[in-house]
Amino acid sequence: MRLNAFLARAGVASRRRADELIKAGRVNVNGEPGQLNTVVGAHDRVEVDGREVTRQRLRYVLLHKPAGVVTTARDPHRRPTVVELVPDAPRVVPVGRLDADTTGVLLLTNDGQLAHRLAHPRYGVEKTYVAEVEGDPDEDALQRLRDGVELDDSRTAPARARRLGPSRVELVLHGGRKHQVKRMLAAVGPPVTGLHRSAYAGLTLVGLEPGRWRELEPHEVERLRAG
Ligand code: URA
Repeated sequence: MRLNAFLARAGVASRRRADELIKAGRVNVNGEPGQLNTVVGAHDRVEVDGREVTRQRLRYVLLHKPAGVVTTARDPHRRPTVVELVPDAPRVVPVGRLDADTTGVLLLTNDGQLAHRLAHPRYGVEKTYVAEVEGDPDEDALQRLRDGVELDDSRTAPARARRLGPSRVELVLHGGRKHQVKRMLAAVGPPVTGLHRSAYAGLTLVGLEPGRWRELEPHEVERLRAG
């Protein structure tokens, strides 16, 4: 593995920042200054500023996010955070974000590389939302959601949308702009009164009550990587 990837995976720094540390001569591999093209294996000793870097176990945690919990590592208003709901050794951070009042599937990990890919719009991870709305959206409103909606910053990509019942709409998106579902529904009419993410990249909440979590199975991690 390249030295910068090793440092990123160990949680020392992002890859770019790791390159800066390497260029600054602060990273030693087996006692010699590391280079940008240094490759490290299982038996190499890596030190930053003279302190040994130990490998972290990679963790992938699927949380059923309850309402009233914020998706940040620390909240200035001291509201409870998703990070506090899962054990923190090693520490994991959320991939993307859900609004404080949104419930549902949230992935947390310390695998920076995978997190970066999943959050990147280029990979278009599929997200399924169930929205409770005021009133009953008609077929015209649903079609507008499917075709794409003009938001202040730009137009949303085509999406799947269907009525699940009175005042309930399911939306399947590949984008992830801030408050996207609430803004899309507000743009076509009915304001959202409740929002739940029922699936993220094929992961669902089967068997998980709100506030509970589980580690992903190795095959689920493989699938996300292959995604
Ligand atoms: N869209 C929203 O409006 N809120 C969320 O939490 C997620 C998607």
